[in-house]
Amino acid sequence: MHDLFRAPVGEIVRVENLSFRYSQGLPEVLRGIALSFEKGSVVGITGPAGAGKSTLLSCINGVIPHYTRGELKGVVLLKGQEVSRLTFGKLAPIVGTVFQDVDFQTVSITVEEEIAFGPENLGVEPHEIEDRITRSLESTRISSLRNRAISTLSGGQKQRVAIAAVLSMLPELLLLDEPTSELDPIGTREVFDAIFRLNREHGMTILVVSQKVEHLVDCDRLIVMSEGSIVLDGKPRDVFMHQDKLATIGVAVPEVTAFVIALARETGYPLSPERLPLTVDEAEAFLSAFFREWKHMQWRRS
Ligand SMILES: Nc1ncnc2c1ncn2[C@@H]1O[C@H](COP(=O)(O)OP(=O)(O)OP(=O)(O)O)[C@@H](O)[C@H]1O
Ligand SMILES: [Mg+2]
Repeated sequence: MHDLFRAPVGEIVRVENLSFRYSQGLPEVLRGIALSFEKGSVVGITGPAGAGKSTLLSCINGVIPHYTRGELKGVVLLKGQEVSRLTFGKLAPIVGTVFQDVDFQTVSITVEEEIAFGPENLGVEPHEIEDRITRSLESTRISSLRNRAISTLSGGQKQRVAIAAVLSMLPELLLLDEPTSELDPIGTREVFDAIFRLNREHGMTILVVSQKVEHLVDCDRLIVMSEGSIVLDGKPRDVFMHQDKLATIGVAVPEVTAFVIALARETGYPLSPERLPLTVDEAEAFLSAFFREWKHMQWRRS
């Protein structure tokens, strides 16, 4: 069957020397950002409050400069076209955003109406809207909620409705800003599962901002922002090796990772990115290797 969500390989976002301040006289909240994203990847962005994460997303989805003005320098290109020159009609099929506050974003009573809203506004034919609703619900595993009132749903369910409502517009790039900040661990897991499944099964390009670093370990790439700049950018495993640097800007590494780094420091055990455990399963494997080697003691401090 034709896969509505699948996008070809190539560069989808290019950001060149991007700086932004909300108004004259205020400090720059983005300072010389340069980035390029490949289609089909999942990129995580983390960083402390006020780092400029949401502002960066606003520059990519066109909220800046189309709604929020300010002093913008540099360029943001989506599929080679300048965001500042694209109308919202042109932007909508390229980039969809799930904002942090889904209650604010929600406009309808029922799940089905909410998911139909975007394509209706884009003037999509009714039979195709029907198809998109079905597929968006399936992709986020909420088909059973189709006729429910949104007000009766759990936080994790509401977040997945918000994602489905953006998916129904078939964006090539999905931006998510703190999609689980209000959720308990089960809701958080449901939402991250849905995000990674969209990438795996449909090749969707995803940019997700979150402070829950343990859920970003499976991203293809992790970007750490602080004070309007990118301070680290690489595979999560490489980024989490920089625990001290992350700590100085107020970003934690996953708990199991922190535990193993402390153990390695205490004993002198050599760590490398390949060995660094990011999940409980990896930590379990790491620890059994660690204790197997314990008896040789070459790496232990005397
Ligand atoms: N509309 C606005 N007008 C003026 N300043 C703003 C506006 N929105 C954000 N800022 C400021 O810009 C800076 C970056 O904000 P931004 O929301 O992009 O950070 P963030 O990394 O998303 O933070 P958080 O983790 O709290 O969501 C902050 O100092 C913030 O106070
Ligand atoms: Mg934010």
